[in-house]
Amino acid sequence: MQLAETFAQMDAFLERSLLRPDPVLQAIAENSAKAGLVPHAVTPLQAEFLAFLIRISGARRVLEIGCLGGYSAVAMARALPDGGSLLTTEIDTRTARVAQANIDQSGFGERIDLQIGPAMEALERAHAAGAVFDFVFIDADKVNHRNYLEKALQMARPGTLIVADNIVRGGDVLDAQSRENSVLGVRQMFAYAETLDGVEMTALQTVGAKGYDGMALFRVSQ
Ligand code: DHB
Ligand code: MG
Repeated sequence: MQLAETFAQMDAFLERSLLRPDPVLQAIAENSAKAGLVPHAVTPLQAEFLAFLIRISGARRVLEIGCLGGYSAVAMARALPDGGSLLTTEIDTRTARVAQANIDQSGFGERIDLQIGPAMEALERAHAAGAVFDFVFIDADKVNHRNYLEKALQMARPGTLIVADNIVRGGDVLDAQSRENSVLGVRQMFAYAETLDGVEMTALQTVGAKGYDGMALFRVSQ
């Protein structure tokens, strides 16, 4: 059996064993697929991993950079305590319409502020307004991974957790000669990470239904 197939089957096995039926997220996945969105949302197990981190850390103010169909936004908003809020950004207007409908349908819409337009513009607006976040999920265009991390750190407090998605990309990130913009963006993020002080950092390589990838984790020291 191909390894990729084993990864996908193992993902399905873990999902069946550990997750309960989730009509809310399932509806979002189905609507997103029907609307023709790219299949880049986090997997159900990854969504629960993000929800875990939010619950463990006690985060109340979440920033998501890159909304797509709203799958991870709803998974994270649902993990928040009452009074929690999540700001998410989506550059593509049609995608944002699908996401907003999914968010409205989820029952967690009042916790979620979806801003349409380039993520960096939304981040600059939030920063100018004095926003501070307890938890950040970076999952937009990988070209700007480094810039998003920098901006997230500017809106962090001691203890803020930042998760950056897609930091392995099948191992393509190893290629220092790569001309692929997303690989360059991720490599720039790691070069930037080398310069950081006062930030605890680690990474998880992941395999599963979405192949071989990973997440980097950052925590501002207290
Ligand atoms: C891609 C983007 C993602 O955020 C992801 O989780 C998987 C793939 C992509 O651009 O290929
Ligand atoms: Mg991603």
